Amino acid sequence: MYLLFILLVVLNLLAKFNAYPGMNSKQKLTVIGPTCTQGGHNPLPPSGICPQSNDTFVFPGMHDIPSGQSAIHRWPPWFTVEWDFYFIFDPANIPPYFPIPQGNFTSTRGRTYYDDTTSQGRCMREVYDKRCIPIFFTDVLSVNNNYSCDFLNIGETQTAYLILHDDRPKGAPECCIIGQPFYPPARNFSDQLYIKKNSTIENIDIDWNGLTLEDAGLFLYGFYNKTTIIPHDPIPASRPYVFYMMGAPQIATWMYQKFGDWDPIRKPDRGIWQIPEACQQATVCPEMANDLIKHFKDICQINVAFSTIRRSTVKCGNNEYNQLAYVKDLESFCALFCKENWPQRICKQNFTLQSTPSFPPQLSFVIKNVDLKIDFNDFSSDLKVNTSEIHQVIRLKNKFQNDIKMIKVELLSVEKRDEILENGRIHVNGMCYDVDPYLTLPQVQAPWYSASTSPVINKVDELINKVVEMSQNLERIAKKNDDLEKLMKEKIECDERN
Ligand SMILES: *[C@@H]1O[C@H](CO)[C@@H](O)[C@H](O)[C@H]1NC(C)=O
Ligand SMILES: *[C@@H]1O[C@H](CO)[C@@H](O)[C@H](O)[C@H]1NC(C)=O
Ligand SMILES: *[C@@H]1O[C@H](CO)[C@@H](O)[C@H](O)[C@H]1NC(C)=O
Ligand SMILES: *[C@@H]1O[C@H](CO)[C@@H](O)[C@H](O)[C@H]1NC(C)=O
Ligand SMILES: *[C@@H]1O[C@H](CO)[C@@H](O)[C@H](O)[C@H]1NC(C)=O
Ligand SMILES: *[C@@H]1O[C@H](CO)[C@@H](O)[C@H](O)[C@H]1NC(C)=O
Ligand SMILES: *[C@@H]1O[C@H](CO)[C@@H](O)[C@H](O)[C@H]1NC(C)=O
Ligand SMILES: *[C@@H]1O[C@H](CO)[C@@H](O)[C@H](O)[C@H]1NC(C)=O
Repeated sequence: MYLLFILLVVLNLLAKFNAYPGMNSKQKLTVIGPTCTQGGHNPLPPSGICPQSNDTFVFPGMHDIPSGQSAIHRWPPWFTVEWDFYFIFDPANIPPYFPIPQGNFTSTRGRTYYDDTTSQGRCMREVYDKRCIPIFFTDVLSVNNNYSCDFLNIGETQTAYLILHDDRPKGAPECCIIGQPFYPPARNFSDQLYIKKNSTIENIDIDWNGLTLEDAGLFLYGFYNKTTIIPHDPIPASRPYVFYMMGAPQIATWMYQKFGDWDPIRKPDRGIWQIPEACQQATVCPEMANDLIKHFKDICQINVAFSTIRRSTVKCGNNEYNQLAYVKDLESFCALFCKENWPQRICKQNFTLQSTPSFPPQLSFVIKNVDLKIDFNDFSSDLKVNTSEIHQVIRLKNKFQNDIKMIKVELLSVEKRDEILENGRIHVNGMCYDVDPYLTLPQVQAPWYSASTSPVINKVDELINKVVEMSQNLERIAKKNDDLEKLMKEKIECDERN
């Protein structure tokens, strides 16, 4: 499963979350889908560093470790660890605790299973016995966290599932997707964490490794400074002491995971990695996506599918955030493209659609050899008579901005486009024209023939016939651009089918 293409629907959701003294509430409006995790769960960004939080954090009782002097810590190849997870509402009750929080909190027991050596790749499962970690900001999972849950992340699926049980809130699914692509942290994950501190709690010397994220605040992972030699691995293993991070502020500003019994010897049972049946058809966890999916199903009788929705607060006002929705298929794109289809509100919040997504080439085709002297409006309206799904008809230009003998047609229907391309030709105003798929170079936002360096414009048709060759070239050029690469591969497969 991969992104067919990217739909850039940017919503400006007005979120009604309270701000707490000294805290910027919009910063914690996260984390469904793979936001930047400093290499922990998805690849490091090219800059080598995820966008950092501008908030100032304090680290009671900790000392900075001069750069280059921090100890290296490694998880063992596999382990099981028991823990108590504390959820602290009061933002002023700042971790770490000595050794557990005072004042008001809720908590749950639980455990983490980790195995870097399974046949399904690196796997991790976190089991929350009574309360789930509060990371949901809207919708049914955000009202309280008074339900058990498991986070299951199987390496080979590159998917993190949230598994819910009988005590789940009304309307919540049995299984949904938290992140994709998403993998469990590597054994050396702490190398990438650039906050390096140490402290002593309960007479234990602890090395802290952390980072801050623009959209999620502080993350800090504490290891026992003393390492452990385990029989089955030459690398000394580090025992986890505490992990803490920030949660949905309506439930817990601080989330403090205090580790207990640690077993790096016994390999977790294979059954732990079994993906439940309910996850086979899982979609993204109910936040905004769920509301939209429901609306399109109930009102428009269309099943829209999102592969992920990312949040961002860049260029947002107070209490606003943007959502970047990536859809799974062309049908979803077509449904979402028409603004009339959208609901008035999402999750009871006002929003605006900030930009129109660029039209995917998989929904476009070109009509070839259309005389420059035809009446374009006439041509265009005749086309629309028989094909109501047409979104736009565009006369293409070469790189000198002169009209060329090709017309691009954008369609809001996968079946219709396939039908026309299968036919190979189309009738307009009594004339018969050949048609071809449309191919673009997305980075430059222009049709490839415009971007083509070939000065010989009338060779364009010949070029079109060499579409496969061309896409292979483009693919080579675009090696670094994953999305484009996928697009081109798909294009080639598509051409081979036709
Ligand atoms: C954080 O600070 C930087 C530099 O001052 C600024 O460019 C950026 O927009 C700020 N980010 C947020 C989320 O306020
Ligand atoms: C562990 O802590 C002790 C006591 O502070 C310190 O001397 C030692 O260097 C630390 N070890 C590592 C590997 O950081
Ligand atoms: C705990 O919560 C109760 C009720 O909300 C409040 O009265 C009390 O002051 C809180 N205690 C602390 C230590 O924050
Ligand atoms: C949490 O759920 C349990 C069982 O469903 C219930 O007994 C308890 O009162 C709930 N607690 C809160 C704070 O909602
Ligand atoms: C961390 O481990 C991964 C594989 O688990 C490896 O690919 C990567 O190179 C390692 N990074 C460092 C800095 O050792
Ligand atoms: C913390 O690190 C510093 C510098 O490396 C070291 O001198 C000190 O002993 C460490 N303290 C603890 C408690 O580990
Ligand atoms: C949403 O917009 C409506 C009408 O513009 C307004 O009456 C309402 O107060 C807004 N709701 C929120 C939560 O901002
Ligand atoms: C539309 O359909 C009519 C009748 O079937 C046909 O004569 C005409 O050529 C068609 N036009 C286009 C643009 O397909």
